[in-house]
Amino acid sequence: MSSPAAERTADGVRAMFDRVAPRYDLANTLLSFGQDRAWRQSAARATRLAPGETALDVACGTGGLTRALAKVQPGATVLGADFSLEMVRRAPDGAGPMYLVGDALELPFPDDSLDVVTIAFGLRNLPDPDQGMREFHRVLRPGGRVVVCEFSRPTAPVFSQAYDRYLVRVLPTAAKWISSDPEAYQYLARSIGSWPDQAGLARRLRRVGFNQVQWRDLSGGIVALHRGVVA
Ligand SMILES: C[S@@+](CC[C@H](N)C(=O)[O-])C[C@H]1O[C@@H](n2cnc3c(N)ncnc32)[C@H](O)[C@@H]1O
Repeated sequence: MSSPAAERTADGVRAMFDRVAPRYDLANTLLSFGQDRAWRQSAARATRLAPGETALDVACGTGGLTRALAKVQPGATVLGADFSLEMVRRAPDGAGPMYLVGDALELPFPDDSLDVVTIAFGLRNLPDPDQGMREFHRVLRPGGRVVVCEFSRPTAPVFSQAYDRYLVRVLPTAAKWISSDPEAYQYLARSIGSWPDQAGLARRLRRVGFNQVQWRDLSGGIVALHRGVVA
């Protein structure tokens, strides 16, 4: 799959997230009108994480979804991994998830070792999303689940036009006031525009080997949750 992040090198993507890290959570909440937490909570519930299972939240950033996973299933082991040290070190410490600095394309886990892999707003940023999905498939045991939470396509035409205007005009302007790296939000708008729609991402998940691939729209399709299972 071609990646919107292909316009940047992996080092460039990491440096960009290192720069946005100081105000990342605030910018997310303001620019999504407070919906980002609910999106991650839905993603955590979609994993159906059970007691005793191990979940890895890839490209975990500041740990929003990682914490949501630990909250929906306190009896599970929850790990978060990201290659931006500046993002990971802002993930709250203390009891709960454990965090590591690592590359999504070379996960430091053996084959068939995890029950759940999640990724929220991260797949689009990988230099090779297909390789990322293959890597998720490799580390999941048979019966393991992947949940991808990613920007997608609004389904209602009128809403879709308004959303396009928001992405192109409002978001970059608002980001100038809110973010520590406004240019990153121009990249965000471009990368959302060139990302596959719901059916396109489902096809790609199937192509790398996931079974029972399904998706559910959130906020009218601004975000989609895709779920797949390892046979
Ligand atoms: C938009 S943020 C999402 C963070 C978090 N999952 C959330 O929901 O807020 C994307 C994250 O992907 C991480 N990332 C991008 N490419 C990566 C890679 N190859 N390996 C690990 N993390 C990566 C970035 O460092 C960044 O923290």
